[in-house]
Amino acid sequence: MRLTRSAQAHQDERIAFRRAFLRDVVQGLRRPQKELPCKYFYDERGSALFDQICELDEYYLTRAEMAILRAHAAEMAGRIGADCELIEFGSGSGLKTRLLLDQLREPRAYLPIDIDRGSLERSARELTRRFPGLRVLPIHGDFTAPLVLPRTGDPRARRVVYFPGSTIGNFRPREALALLRRIARLVGAGGGLLLGFDLDKDESIVGPAYNDGRGVTAAFNLNLLARINRELDADFDLGAFVHRAIYVRTRERVEMYLVSQKAQVVRIEGLEFEFQAGEAIRTEYSHKYRLGHFGRLTARAGFSLDRQWLDSQGYSVVQYLTVD
Ligand code: AVJ
Repeated sequence: MRLTRSAQAHQDERIAFRRAFLRDVVQGLRRPQKELPCKYFYDERGSALFDQICELDEYYLTRAEMAILRAHAAEMAGRIGADCELIEFGSGSGLKTRLLLDQLREPRAYLPIDIDRGSLERSARELTRRFPGLRVLPIHGDFTAPLVLPRTGDPRARRVVYFPGSTIGNFRPREALALLRRIARLVGAGGGLLLGFDLDKDESIVGPAYNDGRGVTAAFNLNLLARINRELDADFDLGAFVHRAIYVRTRERVEMYLVSQKAQVVRIEGLEFEFQAGEAIRTEYSHKYRLGHFGRLTARAGFSLDRQWLDSQGYSVVQYLTVD
């Protein structure tokens, strides 16, 4: 089959992605505590389920952050200033971006990065329509891997990374620090980071956000196994695993698992993985930081706190951090 150059590049990318996916799955399931990287939640179906999670009564995170943005986006844009290049980590549906772009003064370019091509292209199209003068340069990829940003023609434009949605919470503090350091290097001196994250709070609020009554979070979690079946040659029995999420307050995090309901063997590309009855695969951490702890991480990464905004209940925070 002959392919055009871009179709060929597309196909190479798919093959490379599949290889990395397989490697990560095999490595994770060979650990004594089996685990799967949460970034693989976000295929087409996973991204749609996540959008549903954001609308659940129990899932306070999105509402809290949207309230902060609605109340303070103008002030945030003021702190960021005119003529920035805005780079978004994990842009998803782009809903929160709109609130910020509505206020930003003459941004030079907007570079959204997302691991799900469908969401990336849809939101890039929508934002282009809504902000006709804006240069939108979507980047399909994984922001935890080294990044090559497209040339925007202005090496001296101030770069600002927009990283909302508490995605930073998915990383262990040590990994979060490494990622923050990379962001500091990416934006450079004079650059900024607008970051949203979730705060430590009572179990009665956090627990239900990850164990919703309609089972959307369970479906989101289980979709990871369904995706492995779809994209790799695997035979997970989806009825033999159940969703579990627990808030481990001493570690400031929610831990999400898929628990095997019986002793079973799963085959992936000819390899066998044994599960005991009750054995759990860890699929996600979601850290709920105390401000002091997070402040030490950002300071060690080279950021100064310029300003921060909390919602009225003190559930979540958005910080504007700068590199001097
Ligand atoms: C998108 C990472 C913020 O950790 O709360 C939602 C993902 N996991 N329900 C989170 C998620 C379970 C979410 N983040």
